[in-house]
Amino acid sequence: MSTTSFTLHATDGRARTGVIQTPRGEIRTPAFMPVGTAATVKAMMPDQVRSTGADILLGNTYHLMLRPTAERIARLGGLHSFMNWDRPILTDSGGFQVMSLAELRKLTEDGVTFRSHIDGSKHMLSPERSMEIQKLLGSDIVMAFDECPALPADRDRLDTSMRLSMRWAARSREAFGDRPGHMLFGIQQGGLEPDLRAESAKALTDIGFDGYAVGGLAVGEGQEAMFACLDHAPQNLPVDKPRYLMGVGKPDDIVGAVKRGIDMMDCVLPTRSGRTGQAFTRHGVVNLKNIRHADDPRPLDEDCSCPACRNYSRAYLHHVYRSREMISGMLLSWHNLQYFQDIMDEMRHAIAEGRFEAWEAAFHAGRADGDI
Ligand code: GUN
Ligand code: ZN
Repeated sequence: MSTTSFTLHATDGRARTGVIQTPRGEIRTPAFMPVGTAATVKAMMPDQVRSTGADILLGNTYHLMLRPTAERIARLGGLHSFMNWDRPILTDSGGFQVMSLAELRKLTEDGVTFRSHIDGSKHMLSPERSMEIQKLLGSDIVMAFDECPALPADRDRLDTSMRLSMRWAARSREAFGDRPGHMLFGIQQGGLEPDLRAESAKALTDIGFDGYAVGGLAVGEGQEAMFACLDHAPQNLPVDKPRYLMGVGKPDDIVGAVKRGIDMMDCVLPTRSGRTGQAFTRHGVVNLKNIRHADDPRPLDEDCSCPACRNYSRAYLHHVYRSREMISGMLLSWHNLQYFQDIMDEMRHAIAEGRFEAWEAAFHAGRADGDI
């Protein structure tokens, strides 16, 4: 018995819209997942995150295993109850974060040992341990344990790393077992090499997953190279399963990814930028730290329904940023999450109605490249 499913409702060119059903609720695709690394979407209450239109959050194995530990979260009733979010949660498997954050990393066939970036304590992650942690957390969508090389990397390194990730994917599948109501996603690697991407997709499809991620992108290659990869990489993956582009991105990255057949994305950008005074709007990026907003009575974005735009002026948002008031990060995170979810909603409707191309043209026409 399977209690999860993915149904495609419409396609328009390569863009797709549909819904992932889980026991914790449905995920409308294309979906943007706000990042809740440390069991919180920073500066936001869960009902506020939900009010922006988010169906699912992302959590991190690496951070939560170190603090407060997966075992403690399990004793306290699981991640959903711990952080007061009862809808779906996807958890990343930890390997990627170990490589970017941990110290004294040692990679072997078995997995990776490392020291915590928080207190220097020694830890280990392997496909089996990552599956165990994600089960203790109660994750709805579990990611296979993989290794993601930084780009640029030479072909030999990409080839060797991809093959290791595929052996880890098979061990992840085996260790995950059969868990009705929960999904396991494989992660495609292979850098910017088309044949390695195809080989990785074949290896994952042979193992069989509930969804497939495109990993190893947005790691320094630039948008043009990423789009060139997305022109072929998703095409190797099964059409009837969700496709998740990990760690992407800016609004125009997201739109370009959806256009190329991606169904799910996550990024810290809306929340991280919100805490540093940067707002994404229909017209471009607004830096609230800039002195030219000091006397501006206009809302940040007159077309936005969020509280930052409905209740406050640019002058106020500038003032609280300059004064380092906590409400600055709260309001701008809320606005940015609202804007990202508004784009997703607009794209879902445009795809369903067969007017994605016109929607995309209007999206680009309304935007300035620099700060506005
Ligand atoms: N987040 C961004 N890219 C990746 C990736 O390639 N693998 C994993 N596990 N997480 C990611
Ligand atoms: Zn707003």
